[in-house]
Amino acid sequence: MKEVAKQLSDFEGKRLLITGGASGIGLATVNHFLSKGAKVAVFDINQEGLTKLENQYQQDLLTMEGDVRRANEIARALDIMVEEWDGIDILVYSAGIFPDMRIIDMEEEEWDRVLDINLKGAFLTCRNVAQRMIAQRSGGHIVTISSGSYQSARIGSGHYCASKAGLVMLTKVLAFELADYGIQVNSIAPGLVESELLDPSYVQTFSKRIPLGRPAKPTEVSGAIEMITSSLNTYMTGQIIPIDGGLSSGHYGLPNSNKQAR
Ligand SMILES: NC(=O)c1ccc[n+]([C@@H]2O[C@H](COP(=O)([O-])OP(=O)(O)OC[C@H]3O[C@@H](n4cnc5c(N)ncnc54)[C@H](O)[C@@H]3O)[C@@H](O)[C@H]2O)c1
Repeated sequence: MKEVAKQLSDFEGKRLLITGGASGIGLATVNHFLSKGAKVAVFDINQEGLTKLENQYQQDLLTMEGDVRRANEIARALDIMVEEWDGIDILVYSAGIFPDMRIIDMEEEEWDRVLDINLKGAFLTCRNVAQRMIAQRSGGHIVTISSGSYQSARIGSGHYCASKAGLVMLTKVLAFELADYGIQVNSIAPGLVESELLDPSYVQTFSKRIPLGRPAKPTEVSGAIEMITSSLNTYMTGQIIPIDGGLSSGHYGLPNSNKQAR
């Protein structure tokens, strides 16, 4: 009988840092890559979520409590990771917050909080990771989790939309600046993703605008992260990939435009 050659996972032994990995999309990505044989370091401010992960996995996992707004905490996390595993191959920047607040009601502190976590934290993390990847001379992948909100306005999301538009441009410029080092930088822009934080009536109304008719599961976003960080992707960089069930393709859900249409 012919034996089927077993293909080794692309990610066996690959070293990932996932910010925001204690919950939601980040957590799904931690589970996804551990199941592929990767080593995953999780950096998150949520100690409770990190403890749950520690109880679940006995190997190939590092957890580090920290705040993406603090350059020294990111540097310390990467020092630990490099000491343990001798380097980093993939960064997934998934840390983020999405509170609602109209601009006219917004205090300066709230604006700063969203911009600092969603955008400045990405700058600080990507900068440190890129410096290390360059020193390693081994290339690598950086994936930021932005949002369709980078190009699509919604009431109450002035700070959020601005942060994601900034994150998209950070991603593109980084892709240019790191191309010579074999480091590919892309962003996943989810539409609506299942999350305990989302109001059910918002999800129901929003889902009617999505051709696939539902929010994404966090695992569907991690699948996309696998696609763009696998060895099959050797030529895509600086791109913003919508994982949104068709939401950003146009005006789904309208009736016929022409009175005479049958
Ligand atoms: N859920 C959605 O519908 C949706 C849609 C588009 C984009 N996104 C983006 O995806 C990313 C993940 O969202 P999610 O739905 O998984 O949310 P989530 O709240 O489940 O996960 C976000 C994680 O980031 C961590 N975090 C927050 N502030 C931090 C800080 N200062 N330092 C370190 N970690 C911090 C949180 O503790 C949490 O574990 C976010 O950037 C979000 O903007 C989400």
